[in-house]
Amino acid sequence: MGDGHALVLVVDFGAQYAQVIARRVREAGCYSEIVGHTVPAAQILAREPAALILSGGPASVYSPGAPRLDPALIEAGIPLLGICYGFQCLAQALGGEVARTAAGEYGATTLERVADSSRLLAGVPARTQVWMSHADAVVNPPPGVHVTARTFSTPVAAFEDPVRRLAGVQFHPEVVHTPEGSRILTAFLRDLAGLPPTWVTASIAEEAIAGVAAQVGEGRALCALSGGVDSAVAAVLVHRAIGDRLTCVMVDHGLLREGEREQVESAIAEGLGLRLIVVDARERFLSALAGVVEPEQKRRIIGRQFIRVFEQAAADCARGERIDHLVQGTLYPDVVESGGGAGTATIKSHHNVGGLPDDLRFTLVEPLRRLFKDEVREVGRALGLPATIIDRHPFPGPGLAIRIIGAVDADRLATVRAADAIARAELSAAGATGEVWQMPVVLLADVRSVGVQGDGRTYGHPVVLRPVTSEDAMTADWARLPTDLLARISARITNEVPGVTRVVLDLTSKPPGTIEWE
Ligand code: XMP
Repeated sequence: MGDGHALVLVVDFGAQYAQVIARRVREAGCYSEIVGHTVPAAQILAREPAALILSGGPASVYSPGAPRLDPALIEAGIPLLGICYGFQCLAQALGGEVARTAAGEYGATTLERVADSSRLLAGVPARTQVWMSHADAVVNPPPGVHVTARTFSTPVAAFEDPVRRLAGVQFHPEVVHTPEGSRILTAFLRDLAGLPPTWVTASIAEEAIAGVAAQVGEGRALCALSGGVDSAVAAVLVHRAIGDRLTCVMVDHGLLREGEREQVESAIAEGLGLRLIVVDARERFLSALAGVVEPEQKRRIIGRQFIRVFEQAAADCARGERIDHLVQGTLYPDVVESGGGAGTATIKSHHNVGGLPDDLRFTLVEPLRRLFKDEVREVGRALGLPATIIDRHPFPGPGLAIRIIGAVDADRLATVRAADAIARAELSAAGATGEVWQMPVVLLADVRSVGVQGDGRTYGHPVVLRPVTSEDAMTADWARLPTDLLARISARITNEVPGVTRVVLDLTSKPPGTIEWE
């Protein structure tokens, strides 16, 4: 069980889709987590899942060393849905046959229903678009199942067995290119598995608050606010649980975007009544960074300075009383990536700044540990945080320092900050903030090129726009923003920001390019 919620476990067969499946399951109101396929069946069953979903994966069920489905998971009688590779594993385990097809099937294709009655496809039109990505296919369905759909090249595209509460689909219901996908996942969860929707924003927030209250008890906590969504929502949740025993610290290192510090002050401190200490450390960071060009060195310096300033602030605000907890905005994807272990007892690293010293011992409070980013945003909205903070794009801890290619100084910071503010304002005015994952604005401070402005020649710097789309920042594509929006951004930056004579657009995906330039 997942703390009072029925638990849906997504068994990850090595696809990039497992997290997306877990997210869709939660959107359908059921709490879900991911387990690797190497986790023994006994351990999976010990968690008493109310349903299992087998994800897709890159292997062929026949290749040596391919991930296997332990029959114990089927025999346990838990409702089970197989997707893509998981569908083929299920078919094979139930006695069906899987084989390589001539051409495979990739991309959008039309699914045709071949049975009038289907619990899984209830309400799905007779023909609908689905997303496929497979070379193998189920060529003989297992005995006793009801085949419900096909495509042009895949005769067995879905089957179900309502008595054993098993179902499978060759296509990917979790991706947006399968418009009926959410309906199909919901049908599995509600109808086949019989799970009511309990995982809703109000209960997510309440449970997180209760969890923090139980963990911190009468203790005191400290939270570093960066201006980003995660730390803001974490702070507000903790504040609801322990009130003024939480102190927030914002280090203004001078590398923030325009208006960021003021927004945190007005939204968090004035708007929601959190106790906030803002440390003005701009001079200190500027002098530590003077003349430094190499990005890793910049990061190290910023990390080190941050720790010193934060430690001093912690000591000042403790005023002799012990502060024993440190709030962090760790999200569920971070937990999955780091192996999914239980909460760590003392802090070893701070993901924004790269390492607090050993003698600064805190117990970590991580109220967002079970949540995906979109759930954090929902909770934040429900707790009254304004859109200026909730809709904010990710921003690196080292801030504008890594968006200046070259040494950092006050003038260059002012330049990149002004260009960034224009780009964000125009993006927002066009209603396009949500269309991109983020849009770094980068100043090539060591490059100059000739321009003509007014009556004279100029010799200024280029600014790079790096709008990207992404699901999780691990991979990204350059965003196809409307050209008139790009034109407005470019015209305003070159007109309004002194010293910038060109605006160029980065057309590189990740890989090979990273999102930030550094
Ligand atoms: P890259 O440039 O590696 O960035 O493609 C991936 C994502 O991480 C963000 N980023 C950081 N975030 N501290 C952070 O909190 C950092 O030091 C840092 N460096 C990069 C980047 O903005 C992108 O979203």
